[in-house]
Amino acid sequence: MRHLLSTRDLSRDEAIGILDIAEDMADVAGRAVPKLPALRGRTVVNLFFEDSTRTRISFEAAAKLLSADVINFSAKGSIVSKGESLKDTAQTLAAIGADAVVIRHGASGAPQVLADSGWIDAAIVNAGDGTHEHPTQALLDAFTIRRRIHGAAARGRALDGVSVVIVGDILHSRVARSNVWLLTTLGARVEFVAPATLLPIGIGDWPVAVHHDLDAALVSKPDVVMMLRIQSERMHDSFFPSAHEYSREWGLGDDRLAALAPDSIVMHPGPMNRGLEISSGAADSPRSTVLEQVANGVSVRMAVLYLALSGNKLSGSESPGSKLSGTKEELA
Ligand code: CP
Repeated sequence: MRHLLSTRDLSRDEAIGILDIAEDMADVAGRAVPKLPALRGRTVVNLFFEDSTRTRISFEAAAKLLSADVINFSAKGSIVSKGESLKDTAQTLAAIGADAVVIRHGASGAPQVLADSGWIDAAIVNAGDGTHEHPTQALLDAFTIRRRIHGAAARGRALDGVSVVIVGDILHSRVARSNVWLLTTLGARVEFVAPATLLPIGIGDWPVAVHHDLDAALVSKPDVVMMLRIQSERMHDSFFPSAHEYSREWGLGDDRLAALAPDSIVMHPGPMNRGLEISSGAADSPRSTVLEQVANGVSVRMAVLYLALSGNKLSGSESPGSKLSGTKEELA
């Protein structure tokens, strides 16, 4: 795997392979000395043109746990805020010897431009681009679901038949897009629930069922309820009458939480708008995987950086197990 730009490009075997390597990385995290030498001498640049807490910090932790050198570059406070182009920024990073660039950008497609440009010879990892994709978020979400459902027997497994309801601001959500492609590739059944104003044009062509009534969607007792953040910073119009009405119609409050199946889980990519799309009771309940998702994000991002920088291939027709043969030895 040279770049990770989208989950749409991943085959089922490739996706399972990444999740399995993330399991190996999680095993390493349990050791007395969790650091691995795998990326010693390599430089990872975190190039963030948009704010981030979870993604930036976990990529930094992941790179350091693999012994890479890490440079954090925030557009705020850099020359980019004075108008430097992506090309000049990329060439500057090339000049300092970046081996991988983890990029978050407000423009959909910016990581693809960087990967295709020839401005820099580095692995490009999409850490969220506009409303397009956030592939490592979807991978950590799939990893979290797989662990909750399959437990210690998760390795090598997909998500066949798992029902996932994704609720809220689908229109602006790169998390929803990456999850749709990845979760359906892994065999899950995905439903969207949102007001009509927060669904993208062309949703009928996506491999999902679409509903507007959250209570009706929850009657089927889905395995996973994934709440999305209302992205006020991307809203230049009014998409629902009031926060109170949104919360009443599409929020996961304590009553809806109590009506879920006993073993169903509640997910949120963060940051959460408590009291809007999710109540504190739901966010902090034992069903909530919010903090597990953050912790799993480190293992998943270790796997992605390892694959992107080690030259390990996940494509081809071998079984996931054979594709990963040797990986554990390299990690030892
Ligand atoms: N889930 C997520 O992308 O969070 P951050 O914006 O904090 O990185």
